Amino acid sequence: MDKKTFYITTPIYYPSGKFHIGTAYTTVLADTIKRYKQMKGYDSYMLTGLDEHGQKIQEVAKKMGRTPKEHVDIMANEAKKLWELMEIEYDDFIRTTDERHEKAVQKIVNKFLENGDIYKGNYEGWYCMPCETYFTETQLVDGKCPDCGREVKKMQEESYFFNMKKYEDRLLKFYEENPDFILPEFRKNEIFGNFIKPGLEDLCISRTTFDWGIKMPNDPKHVLYVWVDALTNYITALGYMSDDDSLFKKYWPADFQIVGKDIIRFHGIYWPIFLMALGLELPKHIYAHGYIVMKDGKMSKSKGNVVYPEVLVNRYGLDATKYYLLKTLSFGQDSMFTPEDFVEKFNYDLCNDLGNLLNRTIGMINKYFNGVVNADLSLETELEKNLHDYINEKIDLIEKYMDDYKISDAIPEIWNIISRTNKYIDETAPWTLAKNDEKEYLSVVMYNLVDSLMKIAILIRPFMKNTSNKIFDQLGLRNDNLKSWNCLKENHKINEIKVIEKGDPLFLRLDLEEEIKYIQDIMHK
Ligand code: MSP
Repeated sequence: MDKKTFYITTPIYYPSGKFHIGTAYTTVLADTIKRYKQMKGYDSYMLTGLDEHGQKIQEVAKKMGRTPKEHVDIMANEAKKLWELMEIEYDDFIRTTDERHEKAVQKIVNKFLENGDIYKGNYEGWYCMPCETYFTETQLVDGKCPDCGREVKKMQEESYFFNMKKYEDRLLKFYEENPDFILPEFRKNEIFGNFIKPGLEDLCISRTTFDWGIKMPNDPKHVLYVWVDALTNYITALGYMSDDDSLFKKYWPADFQIVGKDIIRFHGIYWPIFLMALGLELPKHIYAHGYIVMKDGKMSKSKGNVVYPEVLVNRYGLDATKYYLLKTLSFGQDSMFTPEDFVEKFNYDLCNDLGNLLNRTIGMINKYFNGVVNADLSLETELEKNLHDYINEKIDLIEKYMDDYKISDAIPEIWNIISRTNKYIDETAPWTLAKNDEKEYLSVVMYNLVDSLMKIAILIRPFMKNTSNKIFDQLGLRNDNLKSWNCLKENHKINEIKVIEKGDPLFLRLDLEEEIKYIQDIMHK
């Protein structure tokens, strides 16, 4: 039987500057969900890439003395290098300058033209250059761009328009029938209430004021304005409208499309309408995450408060960086990055809670049993039953959060299991058991510590694979079958435990002040 498929996408990023932890967060989140689904037996496919056309990119390239093509090639390498460093397991990396994309987009536009979805008109409006978006007078905030707050310019040009109004009723109906299409719910309410209900505006889809883009197939002095070009990447990457559309047939519709809150409007309105116009199914969920903000507001080069992922990964390790990002950003909300919080989470959650649990366990098994444990589980007591009940309950809850894509809710529950297991050591007081020569029950306690740690290693695996592997290795659990999500459910019996003699600490405790200063300094570079 064919496996169930799961298709997940990130936005395609603008290659305008170095990628910061905001972009890294989106990609890490997608990667984590992909790995989780894989562990649950899905045939998962993850797409990421770059949105390489448009006026802004053309200008950035010019400033740097590069042609647009030279610039995007350099940036595509940068992005791929970063994702390699962050061990992102994407399946495809689409660039909107790829021939496969450009060709398919022209076919898509031809289809829109044939359908009568596109007409030529004159566009006048307030244009925000950095956002590449026109706004109506009423959409401006204090005369400035409502999205980025920068200056806007009154502009007029001959343009092609996409007739959004034609699909208004169908979109309304779709929203009503699919209440969880946009997540979280408050974002859906925003889009629905502010943009869909009051009536849709037709969308201007072409420009004549720059030429770094895909040409309109019927009128090459027009290039496509960013959203038709950008949004369609999610299907052109799968081979839609190409000679080989097997991936498209296999994976479309997407299961989970991740975007930032600033672009949810485009994904919640234009994207479904383009798909309707093409007669295609709509994605199952589009999820808008919040922003990583700094103490002094938005990250920006001019404020000197940008954090780049490489710096964190190189100094604190990949797993610690991913842990921080995923735990910090709660579902759909903005969250603040602070150096203090980063270092504290590292020391408390990773060193103290997780690292110490593993070290203590290995230390005791070596001390009391020379590293080898064979336990008679019929000697388990009420204490073990309580521990198992607690962990099983938490596993169900964690699985539910993960299935609902609420990674930041799942993580604290995993850490509750860690704390509960640390508490089990206090409850059973192994040192007293050893002193009283109660070796048989002592081995049961050791078995249970290893069993809990094995489960913890499975639970953190979607986002901390290296740490998970280290835990398995140090506990001497070499059977790869143990690394599957099913072992959580089946109460897998570990046959023989032989831990290593002395494990390297998973995370080395940081000097709080020194590291806070280090992060503050790199933010200002
Ligand atoms: N190219 C478009 C997306 C087209 S998708 C068909 C774009 N690119 S972007 O590079 O400007 O932004 C990419 C993503 O990064 C967006 O989802 C945006 O929300 C996200 N982030 C940008 N700054 C961010 C933070 N500070 N925090 C979290 N995510 C942030 O928009």
